[in-house]
Amino acid sequence: MDTINSSDFNYIRDLVRRHSAIALEADKAYLVETRLAPLARQAGLASLQELIGLLRIQPTHPLHRQVVEAITTHETSFFRDIHPFDALKNTILPALLTRRHSSLTIWCAACSSGQEPFSIAMLVREHFPALVARQIRIIATDLSGAILARAREGLYSQIEINRGLPAALLTRYFDKQGLHWRIKSEIRRMVEFQQSNLAEPWPLMPPADLVFMRNVLIYFDVDTKKAILSRVRNILKPDGYLFLGSSETTLNLDTAFQPISLGKSTCYQLRQSKTP
Ligand SMILES: C[S@@+](CC[C@H](N)C(=O)[O-])C[C@H]1O[C@@H](n2cnc3c(N)ncnc32)[C@H](O)[C@@H]1O
Repeated sequence: MDTINSSDFNYIRDLVRRHSAIALEADKAYLVETRLAPLARQAGLASLQELIGLLRIQPTHPLHRQVVEAITTHETSFFRDIHPFDALKNTILPALLTRRHSSLTIWCAACSSGQEPFSIAMLVREHFPALVARQIRIIATDLSGAILARAREGLYSQIEINRGLPAALLTRYFDKQGLHWRIKSEIRRMVEFQQSNLAEPWPLMPPADLVFMRNVLIYFDVDTKKAILSRVRNILKPDGYLFLGSSETTLNLDTAFQPISLGKSTCYQLRQSKTP
């Protein structure tokens, strides 16, 4: 296995931070080695050192983007950590349905290969068909163009399907395609995918009733987390809801948000808002 020296590690750490805001801690040299050695081989280069040498002398080479892709973790699954979806079904969507008379907007930030926004779309179609008729916008964004291309395809392996998708939903909303399963267009059409870097200026976003921003803040440093949360504040409607990952919190980052317990899940609302 190629090992990386500290100068090359610092170069990769700066490159990744510049493109994605992901903060690689000093003890992540092994991760960089295991993720980038295969990329070097795919690119026909003899070693990790050769890959980094090429990156250094060709600052606009497409391999810069591929390095960021290789370092990024895209781990996700259908109905991941189930409790937020229970809260949506049992409390939040019923409350929003009675409060709103026009369309609803849900933003799924850092959506990876699409399981999260498609889980929301299936939940809405199953339990709130009136919302589908009334118009619901599910906007799903991610930094990675490659992962968004996968998400737009809506094609999943048996292993991905086995992780969290109830059998009834598989039967209703997926078609078998060879060894894979493709999500039906009635669900795919409910989600708009867009590429967007959370750490850079965001595309024009409509005010959101609900923001799912799960398992992405963990990769950023404190200042970046604060900057992103302060921008979420401007996008979230005054009585909207923010979900973070189960190991993430707004505490010590942004006092404008207050945690709300809903069943076994915690979400966040802006302090002045009225909870359901
Ligand atoms: C671990 S996945 C989380 C997926 C999903 N939200 C979930 O909880 O299952 C993290 C995702 O964040 C994306 N990501 C990382 N840095 C980002 C950034 N600066 N802007 C937008 N997305 C980013 C990655 O591409 C990856 O798909």
